[in-house]
Amino acid sequence: MSEAPLLRVENIVRRFGAVTALEGVSLDIWPGEVLALLGDNGAGKSTLIKIIAGSQPPSSGRLLFEGREVSFASPADAKALGIETVYQDLSLCPNVDVVGNFFMGRELVRTALGLAWLREAEMERITAAALAGIGTRLPNVRAKVETLSGGQRQAIELCRFVHFGGRLVLLDEPFAALGVAQTRKGLELIEAVKGRGVAVVVITHNVLHALRVADRMVVLRQGRVVGERRRGETSHDEIVELITGTTDESREAA
Ligand SMILES: Nc1ncnc2c1ncn2[C@@H]1O[C@H](COP(=O)(O)OP(=O)(O)OP(=O)(O)O)[C@@H](O)[C@H]1O
Ligand SMILES: [Mg+2]
Repeated sequence: MSEAPLLRVENIVRRFGAVTALEGVSLDIWPGEVLALLGDNGAGKSTLIKIIAGSQPPSSGRLLFEGREVSFASPADAKALGIETVYQDLSLCPNVDVVGNFFMGRELVRTALGLAWLREAEMERITAAALAGIGTRLPNVRAKVETLSGGQRQAIELCRFVHFGGRLVLLDEPFAALGVAQTRKGLELIEAVKGRGVAVVVITHNVLHALRVADRMVVLRQGRVVGERRRGETSHDEIVELITGTTDESREAA
């Protein structure tokens, strides 16, 4: 077990003019852990993961990656450390096939006599093996992404993230547009990703999903952490109470 968390979020504050979206949020994320971030609309969940992903700066507070303070000027800085938000399909090219998307920008090329060509067969084999490695089977990795379902697209993105060395994946309501069967597959996918030692932060409004997949649940309310629970030490009702504010530990402690 490593000594420092993969990522420590320390006293993060984020203001938008007169609105304080985050009022001093601290939490730790460990490798191979699934952390669910819960809270009502406007609680600050998306703002927090945007800060972790480098797409917004905090007003104050620190991020420590493996014990070292880091500062992200853009998502590329976070990505360089293996921290990335995976959206359902925003980063895939619909009219390109699965293999092409998987290796986009990282194509395997063979060069000889000043000529270069793509190692298509090898990329195809690696893509299929990587997908199978996290429990996803697509009928045809040469199918264009536009012919695939939202759940299948998510699987490709997560798989690509794991294959190319991702460390912490951020998911903002990944099941919002998915049906029942696809959501179940999505939950299994998160478990598979975790099994590869990757850390996952997943925002969800669905307490049952959180209880099913998360090792820990952190509840935000009005920009503050109002409760943190391990799975097995809590119940559906208790998490709902924390979300709605019937129980507010930060206030009780104050
Ligand atoms: N770019 C912005 N400009 C101004 N205010 C913002 C901005 N982004 C977020 N906020 C405000 O910050 C607060 C937290 O918003 P955030 O999107 O983080 O909530 P959330 O927990 O993700 O909510 P939801 O469950 O509805 O997605 C809200 O009051 C929101 O209006
Ligand atoms: Mg949100």
